[in-house]
Amino acid sequence: FVHSKTRQDLDFLHKAGIAIDAQGKIAAIERDAQDLSEVKARLLGKLGWDEAEVDVTEAAEGQFFFPGFVDTHIHASQYANAGIFGKSSLLDWLETYTFPLEASLKDLSKARRVYSRCIRRTLSHGTTTATYFATIDVAATNLLADLCLSMGQRAFVGRVCMDSTDMNPAYYRDASAADGLEATQQTIDHVRRIDPGFDVVSPILTPRFAPSCSSEAMAGLAELHRQTGLPIQTHVSENPGEIQLVAQLFPESDSYTGLYDKCGLLTPRTVLAHAVHISEEEADLIALKGSKVSHCPCSNTCLTSGSARVRWMWDKGIDVGLGTDVSGGYSHSILEAARQAAMVSRHVAMGIEQEKERERVKLTVEEVLYLATRGGARCVGLEDKIGGFEVGMEWDAQLVTLGEVNDEGDVHDEDDDHGFVDMFGWETWDDRVAKWLFNGDDRNTKKVWVKGRLVHRRK
Ligand code: GUN
Ligand code: FE
Repeated sequence: FVHSKTRQDLDFLHKAGIAIDAQGKIAAIERDAQDLSEVKARLLGKLGWDEAEVDVTEAAEGQFFFPGFVDTHIHASQYANAGIFGKSSLLDWLETYTFPLEASLKDLSKARRVYSRCIRRTLSHGTTTATYFATIDVAATNLLADLCLSMGQRAFVGRVCMDSTDMNPAYYRDASAADGLEATQQTIDHVRRIDPGFDVVSPILTPRFAPSCSSEAMAGLAELHRQTGLPIQTHVSENPGEIQLVAQLFPESDSYTGLYDKCGLLTPRTVLAHAVHISEEEADLIALKGSKVSHCPCSNTCLTSGSARVRWMWDKGIDVGLGTDVSGGYSHSILEAARQAAMVSRHVAMGIEQEKERERVKLTVEEVLYLATRGGARCVGLEDKIGGFEVGMEWDAQLVTLGEVNDEGDVHDEDDDHGFVDMFGWETWDDRVAKWLFNGDDRNTKKVWVKGRLVHRRK
């Protein structure tokens, strides 16, 4: 078992076992045993469980369990457009590619095709929790919630609010702020019916971004947050043209982030996607309010938005997670987002003259895998439940394979497709995890569980 101990360090549990109870919770952890039978005996003895009633999943040589990934920002509705962005940047990308696709998902059979494939694919890449934007359409958004629940992906599902006539096309916007709020309430009511405790699926309040929303809509959603405690997600400071537009549309606000704060949207349950161009003052405000940032490196490169400064946000005390931001980003894989976070931090570094600082801003393997798991869990308020292997947490995990070591020390199991990862058998565990991060993909993800339920198995 491998998971983040701290932001800087991975913990490797060798010759270990984890017992999961019928509710999907981690009941006990034992490590450093002689062999599997000793681990089993220790766990059963500790818990007083009957061996006959226990199923065992074993990680073979070259395999390990890793916490499921958390995608803190993904547009399920844009999944069909992944890879299609040409040379666009944010505002023309929205108009050209995004609004037409999203609007078309009011056709429920089309929505079902797009959403079910999005869930199946992200699960197969180890995403056990996804924070989704759907569309403005209530029925299609509710369908996304239904599909997450039936396919077993932990999810926050947002019915997108966008009532402004300045930004949104006539064919794709809420009729009024009140209409948008009423539609949001319908999705909340629906999710409460299908998952009353929000144990797997939860609604999330979703003002698209300031240019798409009236102050009335944003203030209304903030009020709804105060009444319900539901989480909030939106976009902030992704692209220079967008920031200019916000200044133009809301001349009374001192900054993009300040505008959200004035509307009451900056809360400890708020996830702000991008935050590429925020000022020192805006970062301080986000930290003060305890709001979180979803770093979306793939999207920020595709749409030439810029390079977000994760080390700087961490220095400010802001919690950061990773988002694929499909289809601003072309990839639905959080492993890919983690590796791109490492790359983007190096691009940030290359713009810094002072050597010590240049080295410091680079993100390590351990740090980007933290972002992908515990960091994301903190962003969505689930740090006590998911993101690591601890007693009392829930079993959201993936079984990763890198290949079995044969007698010559080579790793070649001909029956098994390990994709890009090629092992030689002499790698340390640190090396193995680094090779997985930089060369791995869904071919290395054998099985995926959410809350103890097997939700994906690679054929
Ligand atoms: N800002 C407003 N809407 C969107 C969206 O759909 N994707 C991204 N990346 N930014 C946005
Ligand atoms: Fe986005």
